[in-house]
Amino acid sequence: MSAEYLVNGSVAVITLNNPPVNGLGLETRTAAVAGIRRAQADDAVKAIVITGAGKAFSGGADIKEFNSPKALTEPSLHSLIQVAESSTKPVVAAIHTVCMGGGLELALGCNYRVAMPGAQIALPEVKLGLLPGAGGTQRLPRVVGLEMALNMIVSGTPVPSEKFAGTALFDEVFASDANLIDSAVAFASKVADVRPLPRVRDRKVNYPNHEAFLQFSRNTVKAMSGAFPAPLECVETVAASVTRKFEDGIKFERERFLHLIQTPESKSLRHAFFAERLASKIPDVPADTPTREIKQAAIIGAGTMGGGIAMNFVNAGIPVILLETKQEALDKGIATIRKNYENTMKKGKLTPEKFEQRVGLISGTLNYADIAQADIVVEAVFEDMGVKESVFKQLDAVMKPGAILASNTSTLDVNKIADFTGRPQDVVGTHFFSPANVMKLLEIVRGAKTSKDVLATTLALSKKLRKTGVVSGVCDGFIGNRMIEQYSRQAGFLLEEGCLPEQVDKAVEKFGFAMGPFRMGDLAGNDIGWYIRKRRYVESPEITYSKTADLLCEMGRYGQKTSAGWYDYKAGDRKAYASKDVNDMIVKHSADIGVERRKISDEEIVERLVYSLVNEGARILEEGIAMRASDIDMVYLTGYGFPVFRGGPMFYADTVGLANVLMAMEKYAKGRHGNAWTPAPLMVRLAAEGKGFNS
Ligand code: NAI
Repeated sequence: MSAEYLVNGSVAVITLNNPPVNGLGLETRTAAVAGIRRAQADDAVKAIVITGAGKAFSGGADIKEFNSPKALTEPSLHSLIQVAESSTKPVVAAIHTVCMGGGLELALGCNYRVAMPGAQIALPEVKLGLLPGAGGTQRLPRVVGLEMALNMIVSGTPVPSEKFAGTALFDEVFASDANLIDSAVAFASKVADVRPLPRVRDRKVNYPNHEAFLQFSRNTVKAMSGAFPAPLECVETVAASVTRKFEDGIKFERERFLHLIQTPESKSLRHAFFAERLASKIPDVPADTPTREIKQAAIIGAGTMGGGIAMNFVNAGIPVILLETKQEALDKGIATIRKNYENTMKKGKLTPEKFEQRVGLISGTLNYADIAQADIVVEAVFEDMGVKESVFKQLDAVMKPGAILASNTSTLDVNKIADFTGRPQDVVGTHFFSPANVMKLLEIVRGAKTSKDVLATTLALSKKLRKTGVVSGVCDGFIGNRMIEQYSRQAGFLLEEGCLPEQVDKAVEKFGFAMGPFRMGDLAGNDIGWYIRKRRYVESPEITYSKTADLLCEMGRYGQKTSAGWYDYKAGDRKAYASKDVNDMIVKHSADIGVERRKISDEEIVERLVYSLVNEGARILEEGIAMRASDIDMVYLTGYGFPVFRGGPMFYADTVGLANVLMAMEKYAKGRHGNAWTPAPLMVRLAAEGKGFNS
């Protein structure tokens, strides 16, 4: 049963029970409807309480059902709410912990709502490119007011139950030590005979001058959401709660919901939702694989990455010892971490106690013997095989048996690193992204000999560190950087052929990327790519690059760190200003290599950049470096600012249609550097079969 029924005195208590968050799937809906009907039919029952078992009242609709006929099978969520709302005996929603989406819509269909303090209340549908489709947009404004409802529905952000004091959402919020069921039953007994039954739908939304407010909201939301349609649709449906009768508003909400559910944006967001969950599943590593305990971590190298990685462990309550070769570097590294936490404290996001707690979890050493007992050690020293060799040999000599030896290398061969030790099964790549304390992605690089329990432990650790762990095989650049290399090459060619950095950045930012390639380069440091290219010029002379990026570095323009990169920067300001010197350099370079510059459309820019990712992604998939196309999408959504409402490069290619992607690639193959467009065999095969990467 996915809802339990019992009678307490004259009150029936229906407890939704569908772990982990009492999602309102078909079985749960059916059981809840049966419970209400049973209570209606029982003369001894005078009132009904609906609550949720375990860790939630209800987290909302069961999104696994979205693409299945179950979603349309009766009783739908609408019907369940209607049954609750039309009950002739009062129905009380007893809310605790989590009450979101369809869960909140159900509660709004009840006659009364009581809650425990600290319950998180939200209508998060917008995060899946949708709007609340079971009355939420019409009922919430009727109890919390137009402004608060609009903010909640457009942002999807949870609000704790205390924040609703002064609104009509809750009829009572109990004391934090109260027993929810006892209190809810007492409340239900008290109101059992009150008639008429209060209904949210009968209330009015009062907002003087609502048209001005709605117009202001439309303008703001439009400016902020760009190509993503759901937030504006949310505004329009909430507007209907003031401008239309309840029944008409509900009809309008239904119509807009059914429209949004078919949009590529919502499909992409739902894909991303499932892709994230799928990423933690490795076919040959069963879910019950035992994991190693991680109670103490060590980091080698307290530089940019080492410091950020240390903060991740500390934030998760795991003590960290940093190891450096020189006291000065160690002091500097620890001081940077401290300063970071101080800034967070100054912004009011960390209490002084928590600050002390976190800083107290960090220590430093110059001596390998001091880290020997750590359960995991993450190496983040210079990107140089010789330095890595010396570090891993020392780790092998001192670390306790069973310790995980991880490397944060971004390009080097993890198998080679593993073979510097006598325990390659304990070696794994943990490729964090910069800034490591902010970026969600953690590429977990599985070496040929990495053991299954090390992999399972690292995946579990990624969750503890609040990262999205995605497993990659060993290759140059792993999943993310190997693909971005092709994207950067195209960006360079576009400059030679007629674009300026600003045009390229604007075009992909309009497509939805957080940042275009040149602003990204300036942020990360253009010297990093220069260093890698110099190696490639020797190792793989057949790979062609535009010289513009090298010329830029030769001008000393490494990016924000030198206050000059593809753009000009003013001291203490991250805003990018078009640079005459750089633009002149680009135009001159085209002339020097005899290329007649032409006008390039935004469409061409986006296609060339995105399809170059897709083509390399297809090779990565075919080689088994990535286990699934959706893992590649996760890498790009969480590590590279790919617009989440486009679902990631591989999903996006599926929505365009692989045959169309190939057709565009053929066209570009006729241009300069055409050999960059040799299609990946997997893509050709899938297109011929009429399939996509994800189907
Ligand atoms: P960094 O130069 O900021 O820091 C390296 C630190 O390692 C320095 O503090 C240095 O004193 C220390 N170090 C050098 N040799 C050592 C040794 N033998 N023993 C102990 N400490 C030693 O470098 P960054 O940027 O932090 O990079 C570190 C690693 O992370 C590299 O492998 C890099 O490829 C990788 N990485 C860097 C990213 C970035 O955006 N900076 C992103 C992802 C990975």
